[in-house]
Amino acid sequence: MNVPFVDLHAQYLSLKSEIDAAISEVIAQSAFIRGPHVDRFEEAWAKTLGVKHCVSCANGTDALYIAMRALGVKPGDEVITTAHSWISTSETITQAGGRVVFCDTDNETFTIDPALIEAKITSATVGIIPVHLYGQPADMDPIMAIARKHNLWVIEDSAQAHTARYKGQTVGTFGNAATFSFYPGKNLGAYGDAGCVVTNDDHLAEWAAAFARHGGKGEHVMEGICSRMDGLQAAILNVKLPHLPAWIEARRRVAVRYDELLREVGDVVTPKVAPDRNHVYHLYVIRTQERDALRQHLTNAGIVTVLNYPKALPFYPAYANLGHVPEDFPVAYSNQSRILSLPIYPAMSDEDVAYVIENVLALARENRR
Ligand SMILES: Cc1ncc(COP(=O)(O)O)c(C=O)c1O
Repeated sequence: MNVPFVDLHAQYLSLKSEIDAAISEVIAQSAFIRGPHVDRFEEAWAKTLGVKHCVSCANGTDALYIAMRALGVKPGDEVITTAHSWISTSETITQAGGRVVFCDTDNETFTIDPALIEAKITSATVGIIPVHLYGQPADMDPIMAIARKHNLWVIEDSAQAHTARYKGQTVGTFGNAATFSFYPGKNLGAYGDAGCVVTNDDHLAEWAAAFARHGGKGEHVMEGICSRMDGLQAAILNVKLPHLPAWIEARRRVAVRYDELLREVGDVVTPKVAPDRNHVYHLYVIRTQERDALRQHLTNAGIVTVLNYPKALPFYPAYANLGHVPEDFPVAYSNQSRILSLPIYPAMSDEDVAYVIENVLALARENRR
């Protein structure tokens, strides 16, 4: 038996006629770049989140860069972000001209530890980028309180957390701006790259839209970049969006079964969800000291797992210049060698889930012998 990490083909088959019709319509209309499908998606996504503006762009990485440029990041500005994320979160700080300042994570939720942020603030600090990692919101109340106290902006990197909620409020609505990725494997994924910036700030939205489209259509009020959403991607996202709540529920059902049956297995630590948050399980990440052995065992059994992410960001060669040592980020450092992402996707069958659980249990039994 084989269990993939995600099954995008099964999702396509479940919506095949609608997706095929949407693609044909875009082609028939030659609505390839921006156009009515993109306008419709921007409106629908802003409405789903409850924000005023959605500025679509080419991907979630550009979205971070565009948001930072819109907030006026300039050379020498310091931006504080989490030590454990996908590199888009930090590389865009540098691209925008800023300096990356990493902060360790909270041991229970994998998200930035707000208790450590203030010690990182200097006179050069301009903003904070929390990441709602794996689909669980970062602890937004203390983060926003720190931002208000020190007059900093906040960009929520929400690439992995479409519609997750913190104290009942949807992520993407706390900071000055938030960014999303619609990379194919995300909870809401296109059939190629796509992303957006969302905000309630009229000026920021207008500036971001102009910047992402060569500094404005017709009149170039500035030099910008070319970061646009394709009509095909938007049309596909429009078909998929109404299904997002059901897909998240299906992910939660898988997570509940994993939680129940893996909680007591060997030294496995299942993901903790803080009581005031809801998790959309983009990824289901367990921790164990036996990570590499378990991964090998699951691979041998035909089960695909992933490491998200095998190194905390400060320990990649890309950041060697910062000269960090493990003691600077003890939680992220300890997690990097213990984390393992198990398969989770809406179309995952009960048999698939049972097979993964059975194989995790089998290794634990072997280890006890
Ligand atoms: C946390 C995080 N931020 C940013 C991104 C960047 O998104 P994209 O791949 O659409 O550029 C991703 C996507 O992988 C991500 O997981």
